[in-house]
Amino acid sequence: MNDLSPAFDLEVAPLLATVGETKAPISVFGLGYVGAVSMACIASLGHRMIGVDPDMTKVARIAAGESPIVEDRLGDLLSDGVARDLIDATNDARTAVLATDMSFVSVGTPTAADGGCDFRYVRMVARQIGAALAEKDSFHLVVLRCSVPPGTTRDVMVPELEAASGKRLGEGFGIAFNPEFLREGTAVRDFFQPTKTVIGASDKRSAAMLAEVYAPVDETISFVAVETAEMVKYVDNTWHATKVAFANEVGRLCKAFATDSHAVMDIFCQDRHLNLSPYYLKPGFAFGGSCLPKEVRAMQHLAQERGVRLPLIDSLTETNDEHIASALRLIEETGARRVGFLGITFKPNTDDLRESPTLELVAECLERGLEVAVYDPNLHAEGDLEGHYAYMRHARPHLRAVMTALPDVARSSADDVAGAADVLVVSHKAHGYGDAVARRPEGVAVIDLIRLFPEIPEEASYHGIGW
Ligand SMILES: NC(=O)c1ccc[n+]([C@@H]2O[C@H](COP(=O)([O-])OP(=O)(O)OC[C@H]3O[C@@H](n4cnc5c(N)ncnc54)[C@H](O)[C@@H]3O)[C@@H](O)[C@H]2O)c1
Repeated sequence: MNDLSPAFDLEVAPLLATVGETKAPISVFGLGYVGAVSMACIASLGHRMIGVDPDMTKVARIAAGESPIVEDRLGDLLSDGVARDLIDATNDARTAVLATDMSFVSVGTPTAADGGCDFRYVRMVARQIGAALAEKDSFHLVVLRCSVPPGTTRDVMVPELEAASGKRLGEGFGIAFNPEFLREGTAVRDFFQPTKTVIGASDKRSAAMLAEVYAPVDETISFVAVETAEMVKYVDNTWHATKVAFANEVGRLCKAFATDSHAVMDIFCQDRHLNLSPYYLKPGFAFGGSCLPKEVRAMQHLAQERGVRLPLIDSLTETNDEHIASALRLIEETGARRVGFLGITFKPNTDDLRESPTLELVAECLERGLEVAVYDPNLHAEGDLEGHYAYMRHARPHLRAVMTALPDVARSSADDVAGAADVLVVSHKAHGYGDAVARRPEGVAVIDLIRLFPEIPEEASYHGIGW
């Protein structure tokens, strides 16, 4: 299994039936914003909860059914949980682990001095839980819920748990990463109306135990690899930050042109097909064509004219160029002397070559003296091909040599290109390119720019640009 595939296919309902009728008791390490809300909400579902924190003020408040933070409805849920004898709090990690079936870890993960993630609290809690596990005979699940870089659960938490417990992962304990998506201020509401529930677990039993906890509020759980679950949280928050920054840049630009930014963004948000949708949000190759690069440059120019700084929009061309450069590095790393391209127009189903990022790759390869072969059926379609070439020679002078070379390096089929290449660069999911790749001669490497196959080929000669 590669780390991109789901950990396993779980049918939640039958597995839940095997977990048992009684609700598992749960310990929660770290009674901050995440821990306190989780304690209160999960207790309201009928689980017995024991909170653990070295901060005795927080421990005392939770044990008394009082909220240690300002958070809507949290105080009511905590006092209700204490009244039902479902909530307790302590600074004694050992007792909490021995009295529960699973431990949620929601300690702080601050930014380290080098800008990375400071794991000290995660390590400390893992050692405490591990020491208690050494005394425990029954299975225990440890669930990391902090925001951490991919690999942390397996590479940081598990070694600490194993060293302190003397047990191996899977023998006596399991692990899971379960990101939380609670927004401060509406955290309780978000818990009961989740936008998604994501579980990355070490084994089916652990996944099922955790799914059982969430079943009353969400049965459509995404079971993924542990590292995928870890990455989801970072990507979510970075996307939200990107949205805020983008909308604010639109606001600053609109203000400079006395245009109503809210009217503009109201229209923008109405488009659920291209704007607020999965469209354009799957990693693939660089943007190009006659519109996107030009309009981005136009926005930058407008901003400069009015003295408005737009660092996010300014960065778009740079990140796109970096993506093209990364494709070129992949080609170079294969050591190939003969490079075959399947698809060179800026997207499938057009003969438009304007600002095609693949054409930039062809140009770089020719400049490096590599042998190039290309196939794109749309370039053989009826139409003013010579007109296109003439336009490109005029509009993109750095591509003049490519436009001159193109008729000579063009082949009549994808198989022809595959037979004349050491590496195949595929930039469209069309025209049977997947089949041509699958039956390519032995030894021909592949650079996949568009995720050709639903299952990623596990071949040393296959390289995806973002997977
Ligand atoms: N606050 C949020 O809304 C939010 C949202 C998403 C993700 N997160 C992530 O969740 C994690 C927790 O965030 P938070 O805001 O709840 O943090 P917090 O700082 O409010 O709480 C952390 C708690 O952990 C306790 N702690 C430290 N060492 C401990 C130990 N050995 N045993 C038990 N408890 C210990 C601290 O005393 C503190 O009470 C972080 O990784 C954060 O990035 C938080």
